[in-house]
Amino acid sequence: MLSLFDLAQDCLQSTDPQEKSRLTQALQQRWLDGELDFESCSEPQAIGEAGRPARPELVQPREVPKRNINTEEGRVVLAHALAHIEFNAINLALDAVYRFRDMPRQFYTDWLKVAAEEAYHFNLLNDYIEKHGHHYGDYPAHNGLWEMAQKTAHDVMIRMALVPRVLEARGLDVTPGIIKKLQSVKDEEFIGHLHIIQRDEIGHVAIGNHWFKYCCEQRGLDIRQTFKQLIQDYMKGRIRGPFDEVARRQAGFTQQEIDDLNNLELDL
Ligand SMILES: [Fe+2]
Repeated sequence: MLSLFDLAQDCLQSTDPQEKSRLTQALQQRWLDGELDFESCSEPQAIGEAGRPARPELVQPREVPKRNINTEEGRVVLAHALAHIEFNAINLALDAVYRFRDMPRQFYTDWLKVAAEEAYHFNLLNDYIEKHGHHYGDYPAHNGLWEMAQKTAHDVMIRMALVPRVLEARGLDVTPGIIKKLQSVKDEEFIGHLHIIQRDEIGHVAIGNHWFKYCCEQRGLDIRQTFKQLIQDYMKGRIRGPFDEVARRQAGFTQQEIDDLNNLELDL
């Protein structure tokens, strides 16, 4: 038997996006084929940087290039920004598998599925970028997702609350608007990719919701109160809206939780 945790670490450390994608999809397949166990030659290490290529250069969010969707290059810049999110999302899902070792078996099945789908999304966007004469790494990007992974590495409940339920869920809110803009310029290829991504991301946020709620229940904590407190502690009580309530409901947010989000947003 091979170790799930050790192989997840290999995937995490891989710096080449193509190789990371390949290894991640192979890891999921091995898991599904029953080839992996929970033994490991080492304890999870303190979180540092995940494996990534030397480029893109990482910059502050305000320094990320603006994109004008009406030009071909603007759409490549947009695809690049989204590819970077997907690349980080592969690492985030792998890190959940690697780091949190005493969860039920289904937790690992779920996050390996997420990791493999993120690799697929990365490849879709990367192909688009390449078709238009560019490469992943050509434009600067920001590191917000991974920074939140680092802040939440000590507790699976907090990770589930703040990464899938806040940062990745934000994608559910903004993607329909991006699709609409792309429809005005009839970029059918890009639109097709985003429909796939939105469909899968609803599933990813649902997985995050499920495991956040599982952790709260295990610890006898109130779900709504705990979430609110974490937003207070880690995000200065602020959360960005407006929220796409249809997609959020599909991803498992209750109406009450959506009302809570709207109230938090108003608290700004
Ligand atoms: Fe994704």
